[in-house]
Amino acid sequence: MKANWHPQILQVFHEQGLGFECVSRGEVEHVLATLKGIDRKRILYTPNFAPRAEYAWAVEQGIWVTLDNLHPLQKWPELFTGRDLFVRIDTGHGRGHHDKVRTAGVHSKFGVPLFEVEELERLAKAAGAKIVGLHAHTGSGVFTVDNWQTVGDTLTALTQRFRDVRTVDLGGGLGVPERLGQQGVLLTEFGATLAAIKAAHPKLTLWIEPGRYLVAEAGVLLAQVTQLKGKGEVHYVGVATGMNSLIRPALYGAHHEILNLTRLDDVATEVVNVVGPICESGDLLGVDRLLPPSEEGDVLLIATAGAYSRSMSSRYNLRDPAPEFVI
Ligand SMILES: Cc1ncc(COP(=O)(O)O)c(C=O)c1O
Repeated sequence: MKANWHPQILQVFHEQGLGFECVSRGEVEHVLATLKGIDRKRILYTPNFAPRAEYAWAVEQGIWVTLDNLHPLQKWPELFTGRDLFVRIDTGHGRGHHDKVRTAGVHSKFGVPLFEVEELERLAKAAGAKIVGLHAHTGSGVFTVDNWQTVGDTLTALTQRFRDVRTVDLGGGLGVPERLGQQGVLLTEFGATLAAIKAAHPKLTLWIEPGRYLVAEAGVLLAQVTQLKGKGEVHYVGVATGMNSLIRPALYGAHHEILNLTRLDDVATEVVNVVGPICESGDLLGVDRLLPPSEEGDVLLIATAGAYSRSMSSRYNLRDPAPEFVI
């Protein structure tokens, strides 16, 4: 849901039999409203530092609910009596393409650390709750399959302590190639890793959450050139939308390939920064890009924009982000 919640995209995945991982009440309600009659056990709700009222609401919905801290069991145990729960574990090692997308280790706010599992067991018992699922997500943009092997080893080992666990959720983060010629995660290797975990633990159901992997390459951002400028050596190509439509470059220095669609056959001779109209120096879609000389009105294509683009967009500066169309 985080990567892309467009109703038509959700419909496609629904028809393929996938489930939906949500991180807010709004996302859960969006799935329920979009996919009428969906089996609620296909919705996993993983909030982080959400208020009590959200858990009180969620446990009544018949969806899977993940606890991400001990606090809910310590302070609101009555909410979870008689409930089946998932718990997000912090395996201790964050992975991923940037500090801001590493979601494990003490500097990440997510998950119950391994040194708290004894306390987790005690609190769950005291609350009368059953832990039926264990989950971990170490980060996004991970290209080496040993990540999911390590997560699998950690979570399956914990099933010795949490004997009611039936599902182990290895999270997402499968790296998507961002540059031409870059190698993505090797799916055959990934599949073999999952198969080996499953073979060693046949009674467990394995889940994964490959949000970005499923949609990133399916979308592009199209933006018209508005103005050009040269400041000595540094050349700027301005386009009609920027970080309000695609914040990943500003937020994590993410790389998105850029093409001038209007001049696909022209020779690339200029090195330019592609910038948006937002009042921030960080409003850069691409730095030092080799492009053919652009003109006002040309259409630039910014690639791999199907994930965390529209879903992260904003009306900052009261500029509407680019609308999203499914073809
Ligand atoms: C719990 C959880 N699962 C899955 C994902 C999806 O990650 P990605 O879209 O990189 O696969 C995230 C993203 O941060 C997450 O927090």
